Amino acid sequence: MTITSPGEVVAGASWAELQSPLYWDDGAVVMLDQRLLPGQEVWRRYRDDAEVAAAIRDMVIRGAPAIGCAAAMGLAAGARQMPDEPAAFERAFARACSGMAESRPTAVNLFWAIDRQKAVFARALAGAGGVQAARAALEREALAIWREDVDFCRAIGRFGAELVKDGAHVLTHCNAGALATGGYGTALGVVRGAVEAGKRIAVYADETRPYLQGARLTAWELSREGIDVTLICDNMAGALMAKGEISCVVVGADRVAHNGDAANKIGTYSLAVLARHHEIPFYVAAPRSTIDRAIETGADIPIEQRAAREVTHVGETAIAPEGIKVAYPAFDVTPAALIDAFICEVGVARPPSRAAIDALFEDA
Ligand code: MRU
Repeated sequence: MTITSPGEVVAGASWAELQSPLYWDDGAVVMLDQRLLPGQEVWRRYRDDAEVAAAIRDMVIRGAPAIGCAAAMGLAAGARQMPDEPAAFERAFARACSGMAESRPTAVNLFWAIDRQKAVFARALAGAGGVQAARAALEREALAIWREDVDFCRAIGRFGAELVKDGAHVLTHCNAGALATGGYGTALGVVRGAVEAGKRIAVYADETRPYLQGARLTAWELSREGIDVTLICDNMAGALMAKGEISCVVVGADRVAHNGDAANKIGTYSLAVLARHHEIPFYVAAPRSTIDRAIETGADIPIEQRAAREVTHVGETAIAPEGIKVAYPAFDVTPAALIDAFICEVGVARPPSRAAIDALFEDA
């Protein structure tokens, strides 16, 4: 794998201690380089918005909520390097937000976090404290977004645990774990919530071709914690369901439309179809920051197309003829009709629908 994004290696940080893929370190963002897992645990320091945007684009950090946390911290870090003159500061911040927004297209948490930082910036700059106050406010907001995300994941875990029976075999796809969030995870938050509630849970992790988030990340994260996890190739899910091996499917999401249609890692839709055929409950777990009520249905969710090389190669090894045509949508959309419940930090939409999604925002 070619490592292109900057990021000086940081000594001393440890996943075992932090259980989060990123942290704020005196004006810089330190992130666990997820491209190198499970082989190496390397943490890198990113000093401004442009470096963080490159790290998001290059998959140093990935997973919808984690991307949002990184973007918020990246803007806060960048603001420290921007000019002190207010008009120039404002222009530099606007450029930073545009650059950040171009890093990846599907996870709405990215745009949600940028919008939160834009609002904080505008309020602070309009006040008496000027540029210094805006810098401090951006930093406070970034830390709040990060901490809230962990709290939201824990709440998702508590709500989700009620849907998972003792002794359940939970199938998950991609990585919607602590690595993909501020910490604790969404789909894997449900697993953790059920384990913490004293339930015996076994997880089946789809390897998640082509980028292998399931094999590289979910298997790593769960096995290190002592949670029972069995790795399968994506094409094994149907056979396991047919044999009665899967009790429910729990996945995360990158963007949920107003009607409950959910975009998630490519392959999620196929699992939902299989689950419905075998009458197995299919659950989507995500914070409200993943819901995009400006988009009515999943048909309008932008789907990232990634480089063919991720399909034709595993690491540096070619597994397909050179020059072969490749189709590679990195996400798919599962229609709300195939989702039995949407679990978020304020409760469960069961089944998800426009009205049920609106009800989740009654306090907002
Ligand atoms: O391409 P990725 O690794 O960013 O895709 C991640 C996923 O699809 C996750 O399932 C989703 O972001 C939910 S993470 C809690």
